[in-house]
Amino acid sequence: MDWGSYATLSLEQDGDALIVTVNRPEALNALANQVVDDLLELTGRLEGIGRDADWPVRGIVLTGAGAKAFVAGADIREMDGMDPATAEAYGRRMHQVTLRLEELPVPVIAAVNGFALGGGCELALACDFIYASADASFGQPEVALGLVPGFGGSVRLQQRVGAGQARELIFTGRRIDARHAHGIGLVNRVFDDAAALMDGARATIAELARVSPTAVANAKRTMHRVQGLGVAEGLEVEAESFREAFTTEDSAVGRAAFVAKERAAFPGR
Ligand code: CAA
Repeated sequence: MDWGSYATLSLEQDGDALIVTVNRPEALNALANQVVDDLLELTGRLEGIGRDADWPVRGIVLTGAGAKAFVAGADIREMDGMDPATAEAYGRRMHQVTLRLEELPVPVIAAVNGFALGGGCELALACDFIYASADASFGQPEVALGLVPGFGGSVRLQQRVGAGQARELIFTGRRIDARHAHGIGLVNRVFDDAAALMDGARATIAELARVSPTAVANAKRTMHRVQGLGVAEGLEVEAESFREAFTTEDSAVGRAAFVAKERAAFPGR
């Protein structure tokens, strides 16, 4: 698969993992318009993963270049020149990036190796799991700029950590460290340093490569579809997904392998 080439993103395929690095370390990887354009282009291409049983990668790791930051937010210098309409368009384009990340058929892991502030925290929240190095920090400091979260934080932070914790973080603009973020459920796992963080993310993707990719894609789609629904409506969606799983070759292979006491070799369709 041709992943394309980008001014502000570096891509590296490592076995079953695609490592995507936001590469503007001189501005702590802030999400300038060019980064947003590049993320839109990349996520558009990634939508093809799994089509025709072609699974070139089984998971994506999103991280930031340099030792200091994952992403330090929207680009404040560029925002300084924006009027309300331009700002709205900027936010909406990042909404599209985050929705596409959620719609990808493979899991996305945010590997947070430093500051994940404002739009950086929001980008991480659009990923399926957030892993962090011990020196990472998180926050939604928009109020300190007279702003509010604009790349999905008002919605996704509440979903991830609950309304009370989200309100406290958004209303105070307070920064929290990786252990605290782990304690409130924002971060799945904390690693000693950046190298251990990337090893941990790759190891999870190696684990994903051992199970059925169609089932993982189905589970991801289902969990996004049920978010915000009541229990009864959610169970309706689950019933459809469970039924659909039984239409895949992967499920036939998986069930037969269990019965035969063999390891399943999933065809990915
Ligand atoms: N936008 C543009 N440039 C940024 C940036 C940002 N969000 N964050 C850092 N930079 C730039 C700095 O201007 C600096 O550039 P120069 O060397 O050219 O001066 C460079 O990156 C290094 O940053 P610092 O010198 O400030 O590094 P530090 O270690 O002293 O501080 C920091 C690090 C605490 C993260 C600090 O840079 C900071 O507070 N950054 C802004 C964080 C922030 O407020 N993010 C939210 C933005 S609003 C938002 O994201 C809205 C939304 O929801 C969409």
